Amino acid sequence: MDRFAGIAAIGVPKPETMADRVANVLREAIAKGTLRPGTVLRQDELAARFRFSRMPIRDALRQLEAEGIVSIHPTRGAFVAEMDRAEIRDIYAVRELLESEALRLSVPKLDKERLAEAKSILERLDLEADIGRWGALNRAFHLSLYGACGNNRLLALIEAQHKTADRYVRVILSNLDYRARSQAEHREMLDRCAAGDAKGAVTSLRKHLRDASRALVRSTMK
Ligand code: NI
Repeated sequence: MDRFAGIAAIGVPKPETMADRVANVLREAIAKGTLRPGTVLRQDELAARFRFSRMPIRDALRQLEAEGIVSIHPTRGAFVAEMDRAEIRDIYAVRELLESEALRLSVPKLDKERLAEAKSILERLDLEADIGRWGALNRAFHLSLYGACGNNRLLALIEAQHKTADRYVRVILSNLDYRARSQAEHREMLDRCAAGDAKGAVTSLRKHLRDASRALVRSTMK
């Protein structure tokens, strides 16, 4: 008798659900500003628009709520979360705490493969024009440098913060100057990591995150 019948095997990638597809479309529209902060997201309207039942719509909204992109109010329903300066500062303060610790732990253990991986992601970033993919590659670059920290929970927390920050980050990624500056900072970080200079790498990372936070806060003042 198989006592574990009905339990999904580990390692099988999760297929994209209808809710994921709805969440992707909404995430993109919010990042591009097609759906402005404060816009009400009614389940019945979205269900009609996507020609899905309300169930995947509700799941998608919950998913986006967990990412901080959508707010769900008990009586007013779901709406696009506001761009909030205080929240940006909070996210970046948390990112700085978590990521500088992960980098500090990781640098002494970074091997050639990880450094080569980080370098190849950087080169792809130089060529990437799509903002969504740029964001994903940026996340992959950061995580490749933290990957040897030896603490999976810490890495999971970092990933969650990146996802919350994503909708804000996309706003500044449309600025080419910001992307060029960001890449220069990435190079500096990578060089210091390759030299085994954990302290220097953490200093570069802090500067990188503070610069992003300032650029974001500025972008909310427009
Ligand atoms: Ni970055």
